[in-house]
Amino acid sequence: MKILSVVGARPQFVKLAPVATAMRVVGVEHVIVHTGQHYDVSMSDVFFRDLGIPAPDVHLAVGSGSHGRQTGAMLAGMDAVLEEHRPDWVLVYGDTNSTLAGTLSAVKMHIPLAHLEAGLRSFNRRMPEEHNRVLTDHAADLCLAPTEVAMRHLAAEGLTDRSLLVGDVMTDVLFSVRARVADEPVAVPAELDGHDFRVATLHRAENTDDEHRLRAIVESLSGLPVPTLLLAHPRLRARAHDFGIDLGAGSVVVADPLPYPQLVRAILASTGVITDSGGLQKEAFLLRRPCTTVRTETEWVETVELGWNTLVPDPADLGQALATPPPPPTDAAPYGDGAAAGRVVAAMLERAG
Ligand code: UD1
Repeated sequence: MKILSVVGARPQFVKLAPVATAMRVVGVEHVIVHTGQHYDVSMSDVFFRDLGIPAPDVHLAVGSGSHGRQTGAMLAGMDAVLEEHRPDWVLVYGDTNSTLAGTLSAVKMHIPLAHLEAGLRSFNRRMPEEHNRVLTDHAADLCLAPTEVAMRHLAAEGLTDRSLLVGDVMTDVLFSVRARVADEPVAVPAELDGHDFRVATLHRAENTDDEHRLRAIVESLSGLPVPTLLLAHPRLRARAHDFGIDLGAGSVVVADPLPYPQLVRAILASTGVITDSGGLQKEAFLLRRPCTTVRTETEWVETVELGWNTLVPDPADLGQALATPPPPPTDAAPYGDGAAAGRVVAAMLERAG
């Protein structure tokens, strides 16, 4: 059997890692297509290197652009790839523009489509990711859901027959990397050595592209008594530069995005996480570090219900939210047992042809 994975953005490389391993184990022929949505070494190559992912078989090198141009360039490149490889399945990951492009190209060519991380909803129709998810789930032949909540969303949209609960592959990769890095030194800037600090990331358009909001977030972070290690996504750096905002003001220490193993190590060394990333909300929970999420809603509602994630829609409230006592201990495992990737591949093998 031949499966063709379409990936292009940082979180997709993380999800691809355990899936690629599971395919190798059972001897599936695996073609990896990298759309080129993320192209900086720190946003792409380091993930392939550090997570032992085979080099992409095809690189579309589309780069940045408006949503339509970026998605369209990928779509234009995909036809020839699918004609050449004729896979039994196309597998798409998460909710980025690369996901949507892989989806449209597969269904137009009548190639069976599986969606990993199906059924997530923010119910915020201003998010580009929300449209990417909904459209992909409705086009897919197989919706591979990470959680019970995701299964309920799929059921509510009439997709139960095509849906399967497999668990979250990000748990697989996190558990294996955690075991590897626990005894390694922490790679944080010298000024944080020996100090308490929180890890922060910001990249969502609703936070980075609105000058007033970005200024308010940076101002709140800069006044916190515990220093913040801000791992700056290229989008954040570019917008801050455009708006003349100094990201490194006050108690904020700015650094480049970390390779995945070093990110896990840094979270373990931190007292908590501040983010707008979906992946990081879960990683914080799985590593049992409290998370504060600068958004109005989250797809990972379990983290909030269990008390380990606090949504802070208004950046002015960050200081107060971070001053609250730590959450109660829990052994809840809403994101599975770390063996989801094997179920993903088994489900596709079972349904092939
Ligand atoms: C994308 C995904 C988002 C995911 C995120 C992870 C969509 C709609 N959004 O957002 O769901 O959580 O990736 O990071 O697909 N840039 C670089 N170098 C790079 C990549 C991007 O400089 O390697 C810059 C580009 O100039 C671009 C900006 O970052 O303007 C945004 O990149 P883009 O791929 O459009 O979306 P992300 O914000 O990364």
